[in-house]
Amino acid sequence: MNVEHRDAAIKKYWERLHLSQTALTKLAEAFQNELEAGLDYKSSLLMIPTMVDMLPQGHECGEYYAIDLGGTNLRVLYTRLGKGAKEVEAEAIESSPIPPEMQSCPVEELMDYVAGHLIDWSESHHCSIAKQEVPILGFCFSFPVEQTSVDSGKLLRWTKGYTNPGAVGNDPAKLLSDAFKRRGVHVHIGALLNDTVGTLAAARYVDGQDTIAAMIMGTGTNACYMELLGRITKWLPHYRPRTPDMVVNIEWPGFQAAELPTLEEDRQLDEESNNPGQQRFEKLTAGLYMGDIARRIILRAAEERELFQGRVPEALRKMETFPTKCIGIAAQDDTPDLCRTADILHSAFGMDPDSITLQDRKEVKEICAMVTVRSARLVAAAVCGIIRHLDRDKGDPAGGAPPRTCIAVDGGIFVRYGFYRELLKQGVRDTLGDAVADQFELRVVAGGSAFGAACVAAATHSYMRS
Ligand code: GLC
Repeated sequence: MNVEHRDAAIKKYWERLHLSQTALTKLAEAFQNELEAGLDYKSSLLMIPTMVDMLPQGHECGEYYAIDLGGTNLRVLYTRLGKGAKEVEAEAIESSPIPPEMQSCPVEELMDYVAGHLIDWSESHHCSIAKQEVPILGFCFSFPVEQTSVDSGKLLRWTKGYTNPGAVGNDPAKLLSDAFKRRGVHVHIGALLNDTVGTLAAARYVDGQDTIAAMIMGTGTNACYMELLGRITKWLPHYRPRTPDMVVNIEWPGFQAAELPTLEEDRQLDEESNNPGQQRFEKLTAGLYMGDIARRIILRAAEERELFQGRVPEALRKMETFPTKCIGIAAQDDTPDLCRTADILHSAFGMDPDSITLQDRKEVKEICAMVTVRSARLVAAAVCGIIRHLDRDKGDPAGGAPPRTCIAVDGGIFVRYGFYRELLKQGVRDTLGDAVADQFELRVVAGGSAFGAACVAAATHSYMRS
């Protein structure tokens, strides 16, 4: 097969997935419309009022614990906030992978595991939770939860491969505190929040008040932002306003729009997932799925004899053989003979690197880049929808520059791949122009959601005492 033919083979995917400037602008508008509809009644974005109306200011104090559950890792944290501004006197944190069987066992078992982990860990780190009189804990639970108060809610559905029975419709905070009770420890869960909210809170605690939103791009993806209460026109049960605004969890994984560029491979991935039809935007963008989309495209190209002279290694047909970290390596491979890409193909599919031609390596690299670029540009369009909604794309009436817009980010893809952040910024530039892009900043708050959860618990606690 000649080079032109091969290039054309890849070109057809680029054509389907590429988001031009016009397409990005349309998508940003569609996102803004969905966002505004969701504040009022119903849209593909859940737009959950989080009941978090007080973000930490940096003067909270006391001892707090936090649990962060919701992706590939479980994080536990202890912190002692001092009386001085932003004074963290002591902190201990640990992150460990969640055993796969914990993602499908009955929810009580999952919560026993989580509570037990914090109890044992705190014991071995000289900050025993069991020895505290009434320990206060922030619970960062990164799934769609309809909040009934700042410290309680109802799980709407599982996402990201979790399927534990007994949880949907119930209060995750109660499920967790019951698990602590079973171990004889009485905790006060001072805050139940999404990881996006935890990230925003951590950024506010550390850097002050100019961060207006936060997003996650890791196993899953999502964002939250600070909204004026007056614009949240849907019913807020039992809520008595204390401040003029509230954090809204957008839950953008469900975003739907006719303009979303998709392939047959996306449809297949969705159909074979354990929640078909749901979280479609997340399935085009997030870390749990990007590797598998690339694998499916590589598979089709091999089957159509556009790659590997038509050889199809058995492992290429299997899900989970090409994790997203492979994409990160191949898409950024700058070695002259693309040997990193060949190594990836060897470790993922057992292919002999010597049998992979340079042209094949180039095409695999292109496929990985394509999936990454689509993800970053889709997320950029969503971010631009938020910026437009908040009128931060406009200068002051006297002709000044648009305001500085700072968004806190966390999640493996943002933290590990600088090129992903650059692609995202470029997407914002293409959609909203230089004046807005020059004022746009992404602030990485790695692992901040656990600390943020502790801070929101602290802020709520300080308010109660005052
Ligand atoms: C998921 C959840 C969302 C969470 C995101 C990032 O898709 O629905 O609540 O914020 O992943 O972890």
